[in-house]
Amino acid sequence: AASSMWGGRFAGGPAAIMQRINASIDFDKRLYAQDIRGSKAHCRMLVKQGILTQADGDAILAGLDTVLAEIEAGSFPFSMALEDIHMNVESRLAELIGEAAGRLHTARSRNDQVATDFRLWVRDALDGMEKALQGLQAALIARAGEHAGTVMPGFTHLQAAQPVTMGHHLMAYVEMIGRDRGRLTDARARLNESPLGSAALAGTSFPIDRHFTAEQLGFDRPMNNSLDGVSDRDFALEFMAAAAICAVHLSRLAEELVIWTSAQFRFVKLSDAFTTGSSIMPQKRNPDAAELIRAKTGRVIGDLNALLIVMKGLPLAYSKDMQDDKEPVFEVADTMELAIAAMTGMIADMTVNTEVLAAAAGAGFTTATDIADWCVRELKMPFRRAHHVAGSLVKLAEDKGCDLQDLSLAEMQGIEAGITEQARAVLAVDSSVASRTSFGGTAPANVRAQVAAAKSRWL
Ligand code: ARG
Repeated sequence: AASSMWGGRFAGGPAAIMQRINASIDFDKRLYAQDIRGSKAHCRMLVKQGILTQADGDAILAGLDTVLAEIEAGSFPFSMALEDIHMNVESRLAELIGEAAGRLHTARSRNDQVATDFRLWVRDALDGMEKALQGLQAALIARAGEHAGTVMPGFTHLQAAQPVTMGHHLMAYVEMIGRDRGRLTDARARLNESPLGSAALAGTSFPIDRHFTAEQLGFDRPMNNSLDGVSDRDFALEFMAAAAICAVHLSRLAEELVIWTSAQFRFVKLSDAFTTGSSIMPQKRNPDAAELIRAKTGRVIGDLNALLIVMKGLPLAYSKDMQDDKEPVFEVADTMELAIAAMTGMIADMTVNTEVLAAAAGAGFTTATDIADWCVRELKMPFRRAHHVAGSLVKLAEDKGCDLQDLSLAEMQGIEAGITEQARAVLAVDSSVASRTSFGGTAPANVRAQVAAAKSRWL
């Protein structure tokens, strides 16, 4: 049989395969709360404007509450024949309250309805993700405070470069996550306009009040253009773009955890709660959660791409292609929720091997820059020449198979006569990090100040 919702001009019903390709109820049922909230705002507006009678309006509002309760209780009979969440809700409303239900869709289309529902859903997802990221920052900041003075090697090209502190390294991620939160907040401000009342695409001849429905739904204002209202999904793209960038940050941290927990590094140890064993190799403690965060970042990037590609060829206004906007967004929201929570747990629980880190911090001549800097400061040497002196010291140590600190004063003076005992002191990793007091530098005092500032800025 033809659909009771739009079947007026249809004699027959859809083919089974048509129903399957067309139906979105399996996934868009997740919009039920937003759909009912939007319908209630629309209904109140219709009553206020005298488009619906108070009695019909009251019946609709009460009926929608019943539908909501049924869905939440798990007793709602979802039907694929009714395509999507909007028609499932409306059809059940008709069963519950009769003819008045058919008046709810006055001055509205599923096109502005779905755009409204989806904006409300994405807004909640943005808020949830931002809150979760705050929790991750809290974990990172707490660990950074504990390890403000813990030296470790800093890397470029994954080659030992200069000593830094673990606190400084973790605070770098606090900054990245802070920008991720900023992108979500920015996206939220642009998202927060109401498409409701755009109707199918052209607006409506009924005397609706779009400012009223916008306010009822917590939007800042109605969208200016009804064609735009029903046909753009940039709010969903922005959410996924912000999520994809954030996922890349999480993936880099995850990659570092994978490296740091290896037997070759042993910088940190993850807790039992966030690792798995091997069924054959008893010594294994695998960083699965970190690996999966790294992997799932691919999905998030893929989902962003999927919707960009769906949208790029669509003429205005609504096309059914846009029904395919939801699954990528749901997957991104679910994936990010999991990834952020797992990362927060790993960071909060990890053990930092301070002794291993201290030994590694000095390995690979990481304080060679410090002796060059000393030559510049104390001997007034041009940096390029000082670099050469330090390079010669490294070569000598390398040839002898020792560290820079193990060279004797006489050996060092053989390369540069001006070198004194005081110069040898700058080769210690602790003095190296303590000296890097420039703004944003790794000195423990800086890191402690950053931790305090980040607490008041972000937590
Ligand atoms: N299920 C549809 C979607 O998610 C709702 C809008 C349908 N509109 C239409 N004109 N067929 O996009």
